[in-house]
Amino acid sequence: MTRIIHRSLDHDYPQAVAGDGPYLIDSTGRRYIDASSGAAVSCLGHSDHEVIRAIKAQLDRLPYAHTSFFTTEPAEALAEDLTAQAPTGLDHVYFCSGGSEAVEAAIKFARQYAVESGQAGRDILIARRQSYHGSTLGALSAGGRESNRRGFEPLLAPVRHVSPCYEYRDRGADETREGYARRLAAEFEAEIERAGPQRVFAFIAETVSGATLGATTPPPDYFRLIRDICDRHGILLILDEVMCGMGRTGTLWACEQEGVVPDIACIAKGLGAGYQPIGATLCTDKVIDAVRSGSGAFAHSHTYIGHATACAGALAVQHAIRERGLLAQVRARGAYFEQALRERFAAHPHVGNIRGRGLFYGVEFVADRGTMEPFDPALKLHANLKAAAMAEGLLCYPMGGAMDGKRGDHVLLAPPFIVSESQLDEIADKLLRAVNVAAAEPPE
Ligand SMILES: Cc1ncc(COP(=O)(O)O)c(C=O)c1O
Repeated sequence: MTRIIHRSLDHDYPQAVAGDGPYLIDSTGRRYIDASSGAAVSCLGHSDHEVIRAIKAQLDRLPYAHTSFFTTEPAEALAEDLTAQAPTGLDHVYFCSGGSEAVEAAIKFARQYAVESGQAGRDILIARRQSYHGSTLGALSAGGRESNRRGFEPLLAPVRHVSPCYEYRDRGADETREGYARRLAAEFEAEIERAGPQRVFAFIAETVSGATLGATTPPPDYFRLIRDICDRHGILLILDEVMCGMGRTGTLWACEQEGVVPDIACIAKGLGAGYQPIGATLCTDKVIDAVRSGSGAFAHSHTYIGHATACAGALAVQHAIRERGLLAQVRARGAYFEQALRERFAAHPHVGNIRGRGLFYGVEFVADRGTMEPFDPALKLHANLKAAAMAEGLLCYPMGGAMDGKRGDHVLLAPPFIVSESQLDEIADKLLRAVNVAAAEPPE
């Protein structure tokens, strides 16, 4: 019997023993094609020898030095590299060990900015429903996924939630995409007014929604309108690119395609590509200057911030993305993947919507295409799909509850950037077989 507290306590997990490009191999020798890069993590696949070499070399030189005493060469080099590639203005970086930590740091930086700039009365964060920002208490407070929050509400910080961008279900039949963006922006501004003047310190959103909504992209101008509202009200904009950032959507930063620069941004997952656990929070001069001329230090830390080996691994990932032209490859393979998905699923009786960008796609399932009626949640379509996919040798990321926390099933697809066209066909074929099995299955 295992001593590990696994994610599910009544499930036997196969043991992964090796990686081969986009494939994972279990202890019985079975191969699985990884169509979701785990959870949009393993963007270079599972056996990148350059990254592994860089990590080994750093371990030989210096594994770790505590940041209360030292800085290190790989941490400095990664900071230079990331800020040089980041949207103009994101010039400062704080390294941590994952996405939740990056979000916690972002929220605390934003609040500290308010305090240090003489605006201590700003104590309200606004976020969006059906969002995921992590599982620690601050990040969970910001998150709008009901099933994650359930039971923990008494411990959560007061965060106000507005509507996410979810065109498939929320844009009116007669509404243009631009009109939809304006409606969402107006809702955001009304929430600021309701919270009270000078009370809101930040707004946090995933630039492209990840697991909870399944790669839903914002309508044109949405983020420009949000940026403008934040500026007019003195509110910091935090973009959570933990899942959608670091090349996943075809540009290194998802916000590049939205024409906005946040005050604070969070990245993780693809940053270390699974070779090392690492996340980062970037911010602008405005935020740093308020702290520098105030207390002089961020009131935040973890033991493993700026971990030398993690930074060396992430730096090697960044080099690989640039030197191998992987962003262009994500765009080209992404277009191929979208076509492959549309060929199999556009007319499928149980597929309501296919959306996404780059190598980041969501397919939403419905019981009835005409009425957009979801499957009965009791059928657990998403859970059945995950099992059916694994039986096919396919790893993907199905999820339930997109609509309202309970109803709605979709699958998130985020293959490694190194995937070939024939491997994308393999993914689409296996997914089609798995969907047909799952949609036909009786309740568990
Ligand atoms: C958008 C987003 N933010 C934050 C997180 C939390 O990251 P982690 O699981 O590394 O703590 C996730 C994880 O899925 C995420 O998708």
